Amino acid sequence: MSQSSLPRLGFIGAGRLARCLALGFSRAGYAVTAVASRTQASARQLASQIDRCAAYDDPQEVVNAADIVFLTVPDDSIGTTANTLRFDCAVTPGSGPRALVHCSGASPVELLAPARTQGASIGGFHPLYLFSGDRADIERIRGCSVTLEADGALKEALTALVIALGCHPLSIPAGGRMLYHGAAHYAASFALCSLAECVALWRTLGFAEDEALRALLPMLAGTIETARDKGLSGALAGPVSRGDTGVVRKQLELFEGLGGDHAALYGLLSRRAVELARRRAKPPAAIEAIAEVVEESLERSVNHVPAGTSVK
Ligand SMILES: NC(=O)c1ccc[n+]([C@@H]2O[C@H](COP(=O)([O-])OP(=O)(O)OC[C@H]3O[C@@H](n4cnc5c(N)ncnc54)[C@H](OP(=O)(O)O)[C@@H]3O)[C@@H](O)[C@H]2O)c1
Repeated sequence: MSQSSLPRLGFIGAGRLARCLALGFSRAGYAVTAVASRTQASARQLASQIDRCAAYDDPQEVVNAADIVFLTVPDDSIGTTANTLRFDCAVTPGSGPRALVHCSGASPVELLAPARTQGASIGGFHPLYLFSGDRADIERIRGCSVTLEADGALKEALTALVIALGCHPLSIPAGGRMLYHGAAHYAASFALCSLAECVALWRTLGFAEDEALRALLPMLAGTIETARDKGLSGALAGPVSRGDTGVVRKQLELFEGLGGDHAALYGLLSRRAVELARRRAKPPAAIEAIAEVVEESLERSVNHVPAGTSVK
Protein backbone atom coordinates (compact mmCIF):
# COMPACT_ATOMS: atom_id res chain seq x y z
CA MET A 1 0.00 0.00 0.00
CA SER A 2 1.38 3.45 -0.86
CA GLN A 3 2.14 5.81 2.03
CA SER A 4 -0.43 8.34 0.73
CA SER A 5 -3.27 5.81 1.17
CA LEU A 6 -2.31 5.13 4.79
CA PRO A 7 -3.43 7.33 7.69
CA ARG A 8 -0.94 9.95 8.90
CA LEU A 9 0.07 9.35 12.50
CA GLY A 10 0.92 11.77 15.30
CA PHE A 11 2.10 11.39 18.91
CA ILE A 12 1.45 13.54 21.96
CA GLY A 13 3.94 12.36 24.59
CA ALA A 14 7.39 11.22 23.48
CA GLY A 15 8.21 8.67 26.20
CA ARG A 16 9.19 5.00 26.26
CA LEU A 17 6.16 3.63 24.43
CA ALA A 18 5.93 6.45 21.86
CA ARG A 19 9.59 6.04 20.89
CA CYS A 20 8.99 2.41 19.93
CA LEU A 21 5.61 2.84 18.23
CA ALA A 22 6.51 5.98 16.25
CA LEU A 23 9.74 4.46 14.92
CA GLY A 24 8.09 1.07 14.34
CA PHE A 25 5.18 2.55 12.36
CA SER A 26 7.56 4.74 10.36
CA ARG A 27 9.75 1.72 9.48
CA ALA A 28 6.58 -0.11 8.40
CA GLY A 29 5.85 2.62 5.84
CA TYR A 30 3.43 4.89 7.72
CA ALA A 31 3.92 8.66 7.68
CA VAL A 32 4.52 9.78 11.26
CA THR A 33 4.02 13.47 10.69
CA ALA A 34 4.04 15.16 14.09
CA VAL A 35 5.19 14.82 17.69
CA ALA A 36 4.63 17.02 20.74
CA SER A 37 5.56 16.40 24.35
CA ARG A 38 5.70 18.14 27.69
CA THR A 39 9.27 19.20 26.95
CA GLN A 40 10.51 20.42 23.60
CA ALA A 41 13.68 18.32 23.90
CA SER A 42 11.77 14.99 24.02
CA ALA A 43 9.60 15.89 21.04
CA ARG A 44 12.59 17.05 18.99
CA GLN A 45 14.63 14.00 19.88
CA LEU A 46 11.94 11.65 18.63
CA ALA A 47 10.98 13.68 15.55
CA SER A 48 14.65 13.94 14.48
CA GLN A 49 14.78 10.15 14.07
CA ILE A 50 11.81 10.03 11.68
CA ASP A 51 11.77 11.19 8.07
CA ARG A 52 9.60 14.30 7.52
CA CYS A 53 8.30 14.36 11.09
CA ALA A 54 7.88 17.76 12.79
CA ALA A 55 8.23 18.50 16.51
CA TYR A 56 5.69 20.95 17.90
CA ASP A 57 5.36 22.75 21.22
CA ASP A 58 1.57 22.80 21.01
CA PRO A 59 -0.18 19.37 21.03
CA GLN A 60 -2.98 20.89 18.93
CA GLU A 61 -0.51 21.05 16.01
CA VAL A 62 -0.29 17.24 16.15
CA VAL A 63 -4.07 17.01 15.83
CA ASN A 64 -3.88 19.35 12.83
CA ALA A 65 -1.14 17.34 11.10
CA ALA A 66 -2.29 13.74 11.65
CA ASP A 67 -5.29 11.49 11.00
CA ILE A 68 -4.75 9.20 13.99
CA VAL A 69 -3.32 10.87 17.10
CA PHE A 70 -1.75 8.63 19.76
CA LEU A 71 -2.04 10.21 23.18
CA THR A 72 1.00 8.59 24.83
CA VAL A 73 1.23 10.61 28.04
CA PRO A 74 1.11 9.09 31.57
CA ASP A 75 -2.37 7.77 32.43
CA ASP A 76 -3.11 10.60 34.86
CA SER A 77 -2.69 13.16 32.05
CA ILE A 78 -4.82 11.40 29.39
CA GLY A 79 -8.14 12.99 30.37
CA THR A 80 -6.79 16.50 30.96
CA THR A 81 -4.83 16.51 27.68
CA ALA A 82 -7.77 15.10 25.69
CA ASN A 83 -9.92 17.93 27.05
CA THR A 84 -7.63 20.55 25.51
CA LEU A 85 -7.62 19.15 21.94
CA ARG A 86 -9.90 20.46 19.17
CA PHE A 87 -10.99 18.08 16.44
CA ASP A 88 -13.81 20.22 15.02
CA CYS A 89 -11.50 22.77 13.37
CA ALA A 90 -10.60 22.66 9.65
CA VAL A 91 -7.58 20.47 8.82
CA THR A 92 -5.94 19.27 5.65
CA PRO A 93 -7.85 16.11 4.78
CA GLY A 94 -5.78 12.91 4.91
CA SER A 95 -6.50 9.19 4.59
CA GLY A 96 -8.33 7.15 7.15
CA PRO A 97 -10.42 8.09 10.17
CA ARG A 98 -9.79 11.22 12.30
CA ALA A 99 -9.11 9.64 15.62
CA LEU A 100 -7.69 10.01 19.10
CA VAL A 101 -6.27 6.86 20.66
CA HIS A 102 -4.60 6.16 24.00
CA CYS A 103 -2.28 3.28 24.86
CA SER A 104 -3.17 2.60 28.47
CA GLY A 105 -4.31 -0.84 29.57
CA ALA A 106 -6.06 0.41 32.71
CA SER A 107 -7.64 3.75 31.74
CA PRO A 108 -11.04 3.78 30.05
CA VAL A 109 -11.29 4.86 26.41
CA GLU A 110 -14.13 7.13 27.59
CA LEU A 111 -11.46 9.55 28.83
CA LEU A 112 -11.21 10.55 25.16
CA ALA A 113 -14.96 11.33 24.89
CA PRO A 114 -14.41 15.08 24.28
CA ALA A 115 -12.83 14.16 20.91
CA ARG A 116 -15.81 11.97 20.05
CA THR A 117 -18.26 14.79 20.73
CA GLN A 118 -16.31 16.79 18.12
CA GLY A 119 -16.75 14.07 15.49
CA ALA A 120 -13.50 12.12 15.93
CA SER A 121 -13.34 8.37 16.55
CA ILE A 122 -11.76 7.23 19.81
CA GLY A 123 -9.97 4.03 20.71
CA GLY A 124 -7.54 2.04 22.83
CA PHE A 125 -4.27 0.49 21.60
CA HIS A 126 -2.56 -1.34 24.47
CA PRO A 127 0.61 -3.29 23.66
CA LEU A 128 1.21 -6.18 26.07
CA TYR A 129 4.88 -5.34 26.30
CA LEU A 130 7.13 -3.71 28.88
CA PHE A 131 8.87 -0.84 27.03
CA SER A 132 12.46 -0.02 27.94
CA GLY A 133 12.61 3.14 25.82
CA ASP A 134 15.54 1.69 23.82
CA ARG A 135 15.53 1.14 20.05
CA ALA A 136 15.78 -2.61 20.72
CA ASP A 137 12.07 -2.47 21.62
CA ILE A 138 11.17 -2.10 17.94
CA GLU A 139 12.44 -5.63 17.18
CA ARG A 140 11.53 -7.14 20.54
CA ILE A 141 7.88 -6.15 20.29
CA ARG A 142 7.41 -8.48 17.29
CA GLY A 143 5.16 -11.40 18.23
CA CYS A 144 3.54 -9.53 21.14
CA SER A 145 -0.19 -8.88 21.35
CA VAL A 146 -1.88 -5.48 21.26
CA THR A 147 -5.33 -5.15 22.81
CA LEU A 148 -7.65 -2.98 20.75
CA GLU A 149 -10.82 -1.19 21.69
CA ALA A 150 -12.39 0.61 18.72
CA ASP A 151 -15.18 0.29 16.18
CA GLY A 152 -15.61 0.45 12.43
CA ALA A 153 -12.94 2.12 10.29
CA LEU A 154 -10.75 2.93 13.31
CA LYS A 155 -10.71 -0.74 14.39
CA GLU A 156 -9.61 -1.68 10.86
CA ALA A 157 -6.90 0.98 10.81
CA LEU A 158 -5.59 -0.01 14.26
CA THR A 159 -5.62 -3.70 13.34
CA ALA A 160 -3.47 -2.88 10.29
CA LEU A 161 -1.07 -0.96 12.55
CA VAL A 162 -0.79 -3.93 14.93
CA ILE A 163 0.03 -6.23 12.03
CA ALA A 164 2.54 -3.70 10.64
CA LEU A 165 4.47 -4.00 13.94
CA GLY A 166 4.53 -7.81 13.60
CA CYS A 167 2.12 -8.14 16.55
CA HIS A 168 -1.22 -9.91 17.10
CA PRO A 169 -4.48 -7.98 17.65
CA LEU A 170 -6.42 -8.97 20.78
CA SER A 171 -9.92 -7.97 21.94
CA ILE A 172 -11.36 -7.93 25.46
CA PRO A 173 -15.03 -7.86 26.45
CA ALA A 174 -16.46 -4.44 27.34
CA GLY A 175 -15.93 -3.59 31.00
CA GLY A 176 -13.05 -6.08 31.36
CA ARG A 177 -10.22 -3.55 31.05
CA MET A 178 -9.27 -3.17 34.73
CA LEU A 179 -9.18 -6.92 35.42
CA TYR A 180 -7.32 -7.55 32.15
CA HIS A 181 -4.65 -4.98 32.99
CA GLY A 182 -4.31 -5.84 36.68
CA ALA A 183 -3.90 -9.54 35.89
CA ALA A 184 -1.34 -8.86 33.14
CA HIS A 185 1.05 -7.46 35.80
CA TYR A 186 1.82 -11.07 36.74
CA ALA A 187 3.59 -11.52 33.38
CA ALA A 188 5.55 -8.25 33.59
CA SER A 189 6.21 -6.17 36.70
CA PHE A 190 5.21 -8.89 39.18
CA ALA A 191 7.61 -11.33 37.48
CA LEU A 192 10.27 -8.72 38.33
CA CYS A 193 8.95 -8.60 41.90
CA SER A 194 9.38 -12.38 42.17
CA LEU A 195 12.96 -12.01 41.00
CA ALA A 196 13.48 -9.15 43.47
CA GLU A 197 12.32 -11.43 46.31
CA CYS A 198 14.88 -14.05 45.31
CA VAL A 199 17.62 -11.41 44.98
CA ALA A 200 16.77 -10.06 48.45
CA LEU A 201 16.91 -13.55 49.98
CA TRP A 202 20.14 -14.49 48.16
CA ARG A 203 21.73 -11.25 49.33
CA THR A 204 21.79 -12.80 52.82
CA LEU A 205 24.05 -15.49 51.29
CA GLY A 206 26.44 -12.82 49.99
CA PHE A 207 25.28 -12.50 46.36
CA ALA A 208 25.17 -9.07 44.70
CA GLU A 209 22.17 -8.33 42.47
CA ASP A 210 24.13 -8.65 39.20
CA GLU A 211 25.54 -12.04 40.25
CA ALA A 212 22.10 -13.23 41.24
CA LEU A 213 20.51 -12.06 37.98
CA ARG A 214 23.26 -13.72 35.92
CA ALA A 215 22.18 -16.99 37.51
CA LEU A 216 18.42 -16.37 37.58
CA LEU A 217 17.60 -14.83 34.20
CA PRO A 218 18.65 -17.85 32.08
CA MET A 219 16.53 -20.04 34.37
CA LEU A 220 13.56 -17.71 33.88
CA ALA A 221 14.12 -17.70 30.10
CA GLY A 222 14.22 -21.52 30.12
CA THR A 223 11.03 -21.63 32.19
CA ILE A 224 9.27 -19.41 29.64
CA GLU A 225 10.41 -21.67 26.78
CA THR A 226 9.25 -24.79 28.64
CA ALA A 227 5.87 -23.16 29.36
CA ARG A 228 5.56 -22.36 25.63
CA ASP A 229 6.21 -26.03 24.81
CA LYS A 230 4.36 -27.80 27.63
CA GLY A 231 1.83 -25.33 29.06
CA LEU A 232 1.85 -24.02 32.64
CA SER A 233 0.99 -27.21 34.45
CA GLY A 234 3.34 -29.31 32.30
CA ALA A 235 6.23 -26.88 32.84
CA LEU A 236 5.89 -26.71 36.64
CA ALA A 237 9.05 -27.89 38.41
CA GLY A 238 10.24 -27.73 42.02
CA PRO A 239 9.28 -29.56 45.22
CA VAL A 240 5.49 -29.13 44.84
CA SER A 241 5.55 -30.71 41.37
CA ARG A 242 7.69 -33.61 42.62
CA GLY A 243 5.60 -34.21 45.72
CA ASP A 244 8.51 -33.45 48.09
CA THR A 245 6.42 -32.62 51.19
CA GLY A 246 9.46 -32.48 53.49
CA VAL A 247 11.22 -29.82 51.38
CA VAL A 248 8.07 -27.69 51.10
CA ARG A 249 7.56 -27.86 54.90
CA LYS A 250 11.19 -26.97 55.71
CA GLN A 251 11.25 -24.05 53.26
CA LEU A 252 7.99 -22.63 54.63
CA GLU A 253 9.32 -22.93 58.21
CA LEU A 254 12.57 -21.25 57.18
CA PHE A 255 10.72 -18.30 55.59
CA GLU A 256 8.38 -18.02 58.61
CA GLY A 257 11.52 -17.77 60.74
CA LEU A 258 12.81 -14.83 58.67
CA GLY A 259 9.82 -12.72 59.71
CA GLY A 260 8.40 -10.04 57.43
CA ASP A 261 6.12 -11.23 54.63
CA HIS A 262 8.47 -13.86 53.12
CA ALA A 263 6.47 -16.89 54.28
CA ALA A 264 3.14 -15.31 53.23
CA LEU A 265 4.43 -14.65 49.70
CA TYR A 266 6.01 -18.10 49.43
CA GLY A 267 2.88 -19.73 50.82
CA LEU A 268 0.48 -17.97 48.45
CA LEU A 269 2.62 -18.81 45.41
CA SER A 270 2.98 -22.41 46.68
CA ARG A 271 -0.84 -22.55 46.83
CA ARG A 272 -0.90 -21.64 43.10
CA ALA A 273 1.79 -24.29 42.45
CA VAL A 274 -0.45 -26.88 44.17
CA GLU A 275 -3.31 -25.89 41.84
CA LEU A 276 -1.06 -26.30 38.79
CA ALA A 277 0.21 -29.69 39.99
CA ARG A 278 -3.39 -30.86 40.55
CA ARG A 279 -4.20 -30.04 36.91
CA ARG A 280 -1.73 -32.62 35.66
CA ALA A 281 -3.07 -35.88 34.23
CA LYS A 282 -1.07 -37.59 36.99
CA PRO A 283 -0.64 -35.27 39.99
CA PRO A 284 2.09 -36.22 42.53
CA ALA A 285 0.78 -38.74 45.10
CA ALA A 286 1.66 -36.37 47.98
CA ILE A 287 -0.14 -33.34 46.55
CA GLU A 288 -2.92 -33.31 49.20
CA ALA A 289 -0.35 -33.59 52.02
CA ILE A 290 1.55 -30.67 50.49
CA ALA A 291 -1.66 -28.65 50.18
CA GLU A 292 -2.22 -29.18 53.91
CA VAL A 293 1.31 -28.07 54.83
CA VAL A 294 0.92 -24.94 52.68
CA GLU A 295 -2.49 -24.04 54.16
CA GLU A 296 -1.18 -24.53 57.73
CA SER A 297 1.71 -22.18 57.03
CA LEU A 298 -0.62 -19.62 55.40
CA GLU A 299 -2.80 -19.77 58.48
CA ARG A 300 0.23 -18.76 60.58
CA SER A 301 1.70 -16.22 58.16
CA VAL A 302 -0.98 -14.50 56.08
CA ASN A 303 -3.13 -13.42 59.02
CA HIS A 304 -0.11 -11.81 60.62
CA VAL A 305 1.65 -10.22 57.64
CA PRO A 306 3.50 -7.11 58.80
CA ALA A 307 4.04 -4.29 56.29
CA GLY A 308 7.27 -4.62 54.30
CA THR A 309 9.86 -7.35 54.18
CA SER A 310 12.49 -8.21 56.77
CA VAL A 311 15.33 -8.84 54.29
CA LYS A 312 16.36 -5.70 52.41
N1 LIG B 1 5.96 1.73 29.42
C1 LIG B 1 5.27 0.64 29.19
O1 LIG B 1 5.81 -0.46 29.32
C2 LIG B 1 3.83 0.70 28.73
C3 LIG B 1 3.22 -0.49 28.25
C4 LIG B 1 1.91 -0.43 27.77
C5 LIG B 1 1.22 0.77 27.81
N2 LIG B 1 1.82 1.90 28.31
C6 LIG B 1 1.03 3.15 28.32
O2 LIG B 1 1.63 4.09 27.45
C7 LIG B 1 1.40 5.42 27.94
C8 LIG B 1 2.74 6.14 28.04
O3 LIG B 1 3.54 5.43 28.95
P1 LIG B 1 5.15 5.54 28.91
O4 LIG B 1 5.66 4.38 29.71
O5 LIG B 1 5.63 5.75 27.53
O6 LIG B 1 5.36 6.86 29.77
P2 LIG B 1 6.68 7.75 29.90
O7 LIG B 1 7.89 6.98 29.45
O8 LIG B 1 6.65 8.33 31.26
O9 LIG B 1 6.43 8.88 28.82
C9 LIG B 1 5.40 9.81 28.92
C10 LIG B 1 5.71 10.95 27.97
O10 LIG B 1 4.64 11.88 28.02
C11 LIG B 1 5.17 13.18 28.18
N3 LIG B 1 4.19 13.96 28.94
C12 LIG B 1 3.90 13.89 30.26
N4 LIG B 1 2.88 14.70 30.57
C13 LIG B 1 2.52 15.30 29.40
C14 LIG B 1 1.56 16.25 29.04
N5 LIG B 1 0.72 16.75 29.95
N6 LIG B 1 1.48 16.66 27.74
C15 LIG B 1 2.31 16.18 26.81
N7 LIG B 1 3.27 15.26 27.09
C16 LIG B 1 3.37 14.83 28.37
C17 LIG B 1 6.48 13.01 28.91
O11 LIG B 1 7.17 14.19 28.67
P3 LIG B 1 8.64 14.68 28.50
O12 LIG B 1 9.52 13.54 28.08
O13 LIG B 1 8.51 15.69 27.42
O14 LIG B 1 9.00 15.25 29.83
C18 LIG B 1 7.00 11.71 28.31
O15 LIG B 1 7.70 11.92 27.12
C19 LIG B 1 0.67 5.26 29.28
O16 LIG B 1 -0.71 5.41 29.06
C20 LIG B 1 0.99 3.83 29.68
O17 LIG B 1 -0.02 3.26 30.50
C21 LIG B 1 3.11 1.90 28.75
